[in-house]
Amino acid sequence: MTIDATGDNGQISRHLYGHFAEHLGRGIYDGFWKKDSADQYIIRDDVVAAMKELGVPNLRWPGGCFADYYFWEHGVGPKDERPTVVNNLWGGVTEDNSVGTHEFMDLVAELETEPIVVGNVGSGTVEDMANWWQYLNHPGESPMAKRRAENGREEPWNVRFFGVGNESWGCGGHMRPEFYADLYRQYSTFLHGYGDVSPFRIATGPAGNDYVWTEVLMERAGDRIDGIDLHHYTLDGSWTTHKGQAVNFDEGGWFRLMERAMEMDELLTNHKAIMDTYDPEKRVWLIVGEWGTWHEQEEGSTPGFLYQQNTLRDALTASVTLDIFHQHLDRVKMANIAQTINVLQAMILTDGERMLRTPTYHTFDMYKVHRDAIALPFELDRGEYERDGESLPALSGTASIDAEGRIHLSLTNIDPNQSRTVTVSLGENTLKRVVSGRILTADAMNTHNTFDAPDTLVPQLFSGAKVKKGTLTIELPAKSLVTLELAD
Ligand code: AHR
Repeated sequence: MTIDATGDNGQISRHLYGHFAEHLGRGIYDGFWKKDSADQYIIRDDVVAAMKELGVPNLRWPGGCFADYYFWEHGVGPKDERPTVVNNLWGGVTEDNSVGTHEFMDLVAELETEPIVVGNVGSGTVEDMANWWQYLNHPGESPMAKRRAENGREEPWNVRFFGVGNESWGCGGHMRPEFYADLYRQYSTFLHGYGDVSPFRIATGPAGNDYVWTEVLMERAGDRIDGIDLHHYTLDGSWTTHKGQAVNFDEGGWFRLMERAMEMDELLTNHKAIMDTYDPEKRVWLIVGEWGTWHEQEEGSTPGFLYQQNTLRDALTASVTLDIFHQHLDRVKMANIAQTINVLQAMILTDGERMLRTPTYHTFDMYKVHRDAIALPFELDRGEYERDGESLPALSGTASIDAEGRIHLSLTNIDPNQSRTVTVSLGENTLKRVVSGRILTADAMNTHNTFDAPDTLVPQLFSGAKVKKGTLTIELPAKSLVTLELAD
């Protein structure tokens, strides 16, 4: 590997490390919130502390599919007057709207994060959406600012990121791109700048490789869009038959999941090429508003709640995906892994009062040094991980330099059988030493954390990197992720 320590591949937007909290399963209720002794929902301090340790650049809410079913007015005002609704999409459970706009914005304040609010295009009116926007942001005298104040909040929240619907090609209304492009133009027109806040308008983007969606949307509405929200999940099976198991998989399952995760590179390359035709200045962000692994839900968990375990395999698909994002920084500026707590590829799982950090949490933790840093160009002989006559690149990585001049290098070896020796030089600069190193690895591919043993898989100090005569040699074990801090 050769890293160009004086090069600049662009800044790694912190928003690539975004999170997502939908009214789905135990993500909100019994996730970020729990009931206190008076039967009232309160924000969980332990969860907030763990997420703050990680740093949450943004949090997307209230969906997901739920967003196009959500009427914000149900979630403001006195709690005992809020109507109950049925969450038909996710488990058919009754939603009592205990967590609404004010509660979510309290969470945002506790996490010191930036909200991404997704509006309802699928079943709400233009007026609903415009009123919500005014409720969130109007600083002066207005009907919605008055209501907000009556509900206990004088100041606007200054929400900048706003989604105009979610998956409008699917659960958000099964629309054709032509129809959605027109609706987008209409709805987004009524999101006005208020005070210091100009709306950053995010359009429903394509599902995976639906390039027609991107083409039509860019052609018909590109000049009014600030970000296009691509969704892509990683499955080891199929949507219709069996998605694959979270824990009980074999090496075939390991290989397939890695292969699917790596498809992200092709998707970003192709969607970007289309966007470049209509927006050569690269003004419009390509956002990956939902990504992550999607397995069959945990046996015995509530149907429709999408609760799944999370192993070393998930952790390495995350590092490989983050590496891919860092290769597309010219346009890919925001992403949200789905979802933060108890849903899909979560950071945190809870069981009553207990909680654990998942292996994917630890990937995000090991990668946080790259946030806001400058991505350094590098050349890497990625080698091959072979299995049953097929092969994938074995190695993947990110190198960056932060504002203090510290160089960080993350390398993932997806090969579950063979270690790799990587020699690294900094081109013309001389490497002096390894300041620190951490590794995430385990003997078994499906190692994971449980409530009884929550620290089974956590990063360990790494001593397998040495500098000799300006060259760094890293002994990268099979199925491992390493992050190093280097001094030149
Ligand atoms: O994240 C779970 C669901 O996946 C979201 O609600 C939806 O947008 C996507 O299909």
